[in-house]
Amino acid sequence: MEKFNIAIDGPAGAGKSTIARLVAEALGFIYIDTGAMYRAVTWSILQKGLEPDQTAEMIQLANSMDIRLMPGPQGQLVFVDGAEVTGVIRTAEVTGNVSRVSSIAEIRSILVAKQKELAQSKGVVMDGRDIGSHVLPDAEVKIFLTASVRIRAERRFKEIQDVQQGITLERLEQEIAERDRMDEQREASPLVKAPDAVLMDTTQMTIPEVVESILELCKTQVSGG
Ligand code: DC
Repeated sequence: MEKFNIAIDGPAGAGKSTIARLVAEALGFIYIDTGAMYRAVTWSILQKGLEPDQTAEMIQLANSMDIRLMPGPQGQLVFVDGAEVTGVIRTAEVTGNVSRVSSIAEIRSILVAKQKELAQSKGVVMDGRDIGSHVLPDAEVKIFLTASVRIRAERRFKEIQDVQQGITLERLEQEIAERDRMDEQREASPLVKAPDAVLMDTTQMTIPEVVESILELCKTQVSGG
């Protein structure tokens, strides 16, 4: 099959990264987790101790950072200026601040430019919030993955209950609903389904079922496939 690009968008916890990674593996494509890029910038801002009103410094930092994504044995590895940050960008502190940082329009344009560049040679599965609508509007296949807030909270809970002591399902549900609200309501490229994206509600679907339907969709949507 010829190379093409796949955009996968949707709210937090819809299973985007797991599914995007498996689809990329099945097709021999490169997986790009754009959420990890926003997390890397947020982590760096927190490391530098910048205050929420120091927007100019944040933009400067985002501009000067070298963010690299590389495939690893258990998923994508993330590097900032040569140092691995794969684990530290997933802490509750980064998660709690990333929506605020990703609502800064200038930071979005810096990361969007990098993302467009990464997808230039095609053969990319990119996941995020604005990929089909803004970053890769010409992607051959666009998917909008969603699931109920409850099931997304349950999935996250299973993932993090061992590492984040004291976390409750109810609190996670509240946090996810709040992050959805911020991602959907921000002015710069809000989370939105592109009109030509295919909506998949994964509430009642298993991971292999979702991967299979995306691969089927690729066959029917990509000419020559
Ligand atoms: O997918 P994630 O939960 O790791 O994403 C972290 C945050 O980054 C999420 O709150 C929204 C933001 N994000 C974004 O604004 N645009 C993207 N393309 C990807 C993520």
